Amino acid sequence: MKNELRMRAVEVLQKEFGDDWQEIAQSLGTENLRRRVGKDLTSFVAFPDRGHGGSSAWRGNCSPKVVEAVARYVIDAKRYYGKSISDFTLLDPMSGSGTSKFAADNLRIRSVLYDLNPDAPQGRGNWNALRDEVDESADLIFFHPPYHSMIAYSGNMWGKPHPDDLSRCSSYREFIEKLNFVLKKLYMALRKDGRLAVLVGDMRLKGQFYSMQTDMMKLGEYESFIVKGQFNCVSDNRTYAKPFVPIVTEYLLLFHKQDVLMVPFSKTLSGRFDVSKKDDASLTWHHLIRLTMESVGGETDLTALYAMLAEHPKSKRKRAL
Ligand SMILES: C[S@@+](CC[C@H](N)C(=O)[O-])C[C@H]1O[C@@H](n2cnc3c(N)ncnc32)[C@H](O)[C@@H]1O
Repeated sequence: MKNELRMRAVEVLQKEFGDDWQEIAQSLGTENLRRRVGKDLTSFVAFPDRGHGGSSAWRGNCSPKVVEAVARYVIDAKRYYGKSISDFTLLDPMSGSGTSKFAADNLRIRSVLYDLNPDAPQGRGNWNALRDEVDESADLIFFHPPYHSMIAYSGNMWGKPHPDDLSRCSSYREFIEKLNFVLKKLYMALRKDGRLAVLVGDMRLKGQFYSMQTDMMKLGEYESFIVKGQFNCVSDNRTYAKPFVPIVTEYLLLFHKQDVLMVPFSKTLSGRFDVSKKDDASLTWHHLIRLTMESVGGETDLTALYAMLAEHPKSKRKRAL
């Protein structure tokens, strides 16, 4: 769309709808995508109009439309395969402002909500995911954990700082370990044919990029990876001098429990290896020489280069031949 045309459209919408114009335009812009194949849940979702239920004032809250869309999908899938939905239960173990309760009520399904917050706005408060029993089973567990330390919950959104609050882990590694423990615990609470939906984000803290969806453990049959557009973030109104790629999406990972006793899982392997000491099938002589030269600023003489590579496993193997 040409710039003048765009400005004119903004003017008209602003005049007609006041402050709501942007939300209306965003909803219209994503509607076609959201309605593709007649469903609300596609591999990209965007709900610029948050909808009613829970609270937008609760930092890191999500739209009830997300919970509703995934619950509707799980119910539809159960119906399609002739499974009973008479006691369908949605469990949200970190319920924050209680968004899931409203989504479940809209769909007229039973919901069970927990949170560490002793004064949880909905459901059971003072429930600790690291220590307490998940004493209900569910067909859908909607799990929306904190975003590591990006938003502190205890001592900020509620009460005093709590040592088991997942938003107060001393390192990202500790956070992922605790998150994985909770994920396994929740998977145990799923009924056969149930789904575990995990809403997580990526983040940049002190310049370092962390990807929860990459680092967290995956359990069950991986059914879908849904990208969700983010709206109305606190960071939207900040300006940054240093160039970086802004994070404008988060992810809903959907896992299916097909077998009661067998637990399929996968974990990301990460680490570092030093190509100056370790050989690898992908490391050719061409690259080893190029990388060694680059590491010393691009220039060196042949004797120095031989000396640098003399102890490399590749040189040793050649010599043995
Ligand atoms: C991202 S918020 C959930 C937001 C919610 N979906 C909403 O829309 O309002 C994460 C929640 O996890 C809770 N939490 C953190 N650590 C917990 C723990 N160990 N056990 C239970 N809840 C915990 C926090 O109190 C916070 O309310």
